[in-house]
Amino acid sequence: MKKLILLLLPLHLFSITVMAQTPAYKNKQLPVDKRVADLLTRMTVEEKAGQLNQLNGGAFTGPAANDPGQKAKMEMVRKGQVGSMLNVTGVTETRTIQDLAVKESRLGIPIIFAFDVIHGYKTIFPIPIADACAWDPALSQQATAVAAKEASAEGLHWTFAPMVDVSRDPRWGRVMEGAGEDPYLGGVIGAARVKGFQGNFGKDNILACVKHFAVYGAVEAGREYNQVSVDRVNTWNFYMPPYKAAVAAGAATVMNSFNVFEGVPASANSYLVNEVLKKQWGFKGFLVSDWNSFGEMVQHGYAKDNKDIAMKAINAGSMMDMETRAMVSEIPGLVKEGKVSMKTLDAAVAAILTMKFKIGLFDDPYINCDPQREKNNVFTAEHRNISRDAARKSILLLKNNEGILPLNRAANIALIGRWAESADDIFDFWVANAKSDPYRPVTLLEGLKNAGAKIKYARGYQDDLKPDNALADEAAGIANNADIVIVNLGISGKLAGEDRSIAMPEIPESQLDLLRALKKTGKKIIAVVSAGRPLVLTKAEPYCDAIVYAWILGTEQGNALADVIFGDYNPSAKTVMSFPYAVGQIPVYYNHMNTSRPSSTDGQGNWYSRYRDIPNDPLYPFGFGLSYTTYSYSNLKLNRNSLKKGEKLEVTVAVKNTGSRAGEEIVQLYIRDLIANQIRPVKELKGFEKITLAPGQEKTVRFMLDSDMLSYYNSNGVLTIEPGEFRVFIGGNSRDVLEAKFNFE
Ligand code: BGC
Repeated sequence: MKKLILLLLPLHLFSITVMAQTPAYKNKQLPVDKRVADLLTRMTVEEKAGQLNQLNGGAFTGPAANDPGQKAKMEMVRKGQVGSMLNVTGVTETRTIQDLAVKESRLGIPIIFAFDVIHGYKTIFPIPIADACAWDPALSQQATAVAAKEASAEGLHWTFAPMVDVSRDPRWGRVMEGAGEDPYLGGVIGAARVKGFQGNFGKDNILACVKHFAVYGAVEAGREYNQVSVDRVNTWNFYMPPYKAAVAAGAATVMNSFNVFEGVPASANSYLVNEVLKKQWGFKGFLVSDWNSFGEMVQHGYAKDNKDIAMKAINAGSMMDMETRAMVSEIPGLVKEGKVSMKTLDAAVAAILTMKFKIGLFDDPYINCDPQREKNNVFTAEHRNISRDAARKSILLLKNNEGILPLNRAANIALIGRWAESADDIFDFWVANAKSDPYRPVTLLEGLKNAGAKIKYARGYQDDLKPDNALADEAAGIANNADIVIVNLGISGKLAGEDRSIAMPEIPESQLDLLRALKKTGKKIIAVVSAGRPLVLTKAEPYCDAIVYAWILGTEQGNALADVIFGDYNPSAKTVMSFPYAVGQIPVYYNHMNTSRPSSTDGQGNWYSRYRDIPNDPLYPFGFGLSYTTYSYSNLKLNRNSLKKGEKLEVTVAVKNTGSRAGEEIVQLYIRDLIANQIRPVKELKGFEKITLAPGQEKTVRFMLDSDMLSYYNSNGVLTIEPGEFRVFIGGNSRDVLEAKFNFE
């Protein structure tokens, strides 16, 4: 009978009936804010708390499906107690969980899948610090776009990158993950990485996550998870700019950091989250904690238990809880007790749901679960080519006596050094899903062979770097019969990344012994140095005729190094972190303040700020890197001597390729504000340009300095500009520069 009535209903009434049954949040035609608002009205407080819960996933198919821990997580998904999972990857695994969320939970709210896609997914790119040395935002953007294409083809929606923490301390293992010591360059590169990951929020994109907010790169003594003590003036001027730039570039999410800021853990720091991020910067996305950083508020001595944690975190503006499970368990009770308002909870949940709607998850929860994309879009020849290009552009040439490099392919090479043949020591931390075959990286040995080199190889040192004379002697024997020696020095990739702080970032003794043995052969020595951080090279440097700093270059490491060694690519990278002269000098960075005694005050070299045993300057300064050609800088000109607010100053310089090869040069512009109400650094990078010059060619490079670039942050984060005298410097690194002056009126 009912059916009959329905059949008899006029068409327009029929569609109204159906509409009434379809909740507004499922209606694609409605704007996102309406859909979010509708969904919120339907959610219980428990389901809202569930959206704030992010669980570590793992595998859910095969034997893992019967694991009690995994079963319990699946049950939570069914109950709507999980908003996101991390570390679930692949079309099959993500689909398994998404099915539970969409088909079995009451409201069918899809899960957002996250993973640390830091420098590639299966095609691995140079580590971020290396990539930054290319000073090429378009390239950094391309690298993250490729990573996003691969990750999104394997079920993922979201990465925990880019890390934009400024750091001056190579003891910290995570310098590998950032863009070095400069706030301006860090912002430019960070913004580019955000844009690469996110694109236009399309199918081949994933959401970015700016981390770790805030000031995580300043961990004391470079020790992971250590305290941070930086005042607001320094925070604003040196650490905040990259977060701000990455947020301004549209980053969808931000991650709280582990550290404490001004006595309050960043995860519950209302100044950082509510005041700076949301109010001052207008951030509209959502926040996620770092792994159990909510829970660790107990160890910090800031919160008593999960209830205290959840209350403090959410009231400070934080949102999603990675792995503490405090939000999901405690928020309902806190709301009931009036300790967390429904408005605060709704704001957090709405921010998460909005992103889920924005990327189309409600309309197609399986958007990234297409086996065809997984098959076609990952580890392609095209992606590997892009990675090789990025790798070549990340390699630093630090020394090249008598133009010993590039090498002739016909040379008989003695290749020495364990790292040169060990893929395991290239890939360790943050290599997403590329650890196993066929994604393993091309080693230096393989790369040189691919390039047609004639090679004899010896291991040279032990994996554990303990002295081993027999290995050094064997290496010297091989070197004796070769035309030239290439020795791969440095430390394993296993020492780069999170929880990989080291107190002595330098060339190990066993490798110095090896260098001594090799030197005795009288052969020329080319050192290729592998490390995820700048190492102290001072003791090794005198033994080396050339130094190529390889960092960790990704899938194409060996091929890219061969490109540089044989001159198929002319190196152009410039370091984004100073290379310390000695460990005791750390932190050493170019944009330091002047001291009250910057140089000798008594005419005899005493009583000024210095070390008695080593120089103040780093071995290689920020911005330094050689090429197979040479460049000269001349004719620095300003189009005016003074400028006012709103005006621009044109700065030009002539750069000439004075060598015999074409090359790319990174022209850097720095300023100095001589007298200010808050003292300013001796140099601050304000612009750069990468130019290509044919042999003998000269180009005039032009920068426009606008008055805003002369400002600095006061302790409240307000940009301030004062009249006074400025210097402008231009050069190919932060040390060797031309100088001119102007006034701001
Ligand atoms: C790291 C984050 C990372 C997270 C998830 C934490 O330990 O600090 O950078 O995104 O784990 O893997």
